[in-house]
Amino acid sequence: MNVIITGASSGIGRELLKIFVDNGHFVIAVARRKEKLEKIKKEFDEKVEIICTDISKLENIRELHEEIKKMNIDVDLLINNAGTGEYGFFYETDIKSHIKTLDLNIRGLTYLTRIFAEEMFKKGSGGIINVASTASFQSGGPLMGVYYASKAYVLSFTEALVEEMEYRGVRIMALCPGPTSTDFKGISSERKGMEKFYVTTPRQVAESCYKDYFNDKNICIPGILNKILVFITRFIPRKVQRKIVRKIQEKKKRLL
Ligand SMILES: NC(=O)c1ccc[n+]([C@@H]2O[C@H](COP(=O)([O-])OP(=O)(O)OC[C@H]3O[C@@H](n4cnc5c(N)ncnc54)[C@H](OP(=O)(O)O)[C@@H]3O)[C@@H](O)[C@H]2O)c1
Repeated sequence: MNVIITGASSGIGRELLKIFVDNGHFVIAVARRKEKLEKIKKEFDEKVEIICTDISKLENIRELHEEIKKMNIDVDLLINNAGTGEYGFFYETDIKSHIKTLDLNIRGLTYLTRIFAEEMFKKGSGGIINVASTASFQSGGPLMGVYYASKAYVLSFTEALVEEMEYRGVRIMALCPGPTSTDFKGISSERKGMEKFYVTTPRQVAESCYKDYFNDKNICIPGILNKILVFITRFIPRKVQRKIVRKIQEKKKRLL
């Protein structure tokens, strides 16, 4: 299979790349940091191709699509993994950073999906995995409100695609990791005190994703604890959910 993975230079994306390559698939790795991508190319050689671009900009996505067409690669699976988010009270954080989050997590993801969804629908085969979050199931994410809302969009959008596309033979799945030990948003997972917030490693997320995709799941929630938490969220009043999230995010913010 030919697989595109956005945000493959680190964290969950890099582990997804490894698992697909190790299982004999060809991967096109997309991200901005050239040195990280070049290291990946060196490590995996002809099993990967790298494209260095910022996909929060729509013109770059158009160019990315052209580049892939020129490579003559028929894409079988698109994994929209690249994502970002800002910590802090909305009224005191940089609006430019929130706009970037929306441009990447929503606009970029939607545009890339649109391009490949049409090709896959016409072919009657292929697949799309959109990386949402367990945050997608919450009533809101105080101190990370824009990020949580963007992930609620990703889950809702992806579930709509399931109904529109799967009858035609195109697989659709939302990957919803819980807190995972990556350097998300440049905050090192090695930072003292952060370990208590993590439920899964990037490797566990990638393994669950791979297994669930080939088992025809539409929503993948890696880790038993995350599954339980998402399940019980249904029975917790929305205003209580928000207060719990606020307490967790405030504790996290104190470490940053
Ligand atoms: N870690 C968690 O707890 C957690 C939980 C739930 C969901 N998620 C989701 O999982 C996904 C991966 O995050 P992660 O935790 O693995 O964090 P990460 O290590 O920071 O990975 C983010 C990836 O996205 C890429 N990226 C960021 N901005 C980009 C842009 N404008 N254009 C192209 N690529 C861009 C980064 O590469 P470059 O910097 O090289 O561009 C990096 O490879 C995200 O969608 C995140 O929301 C994470």
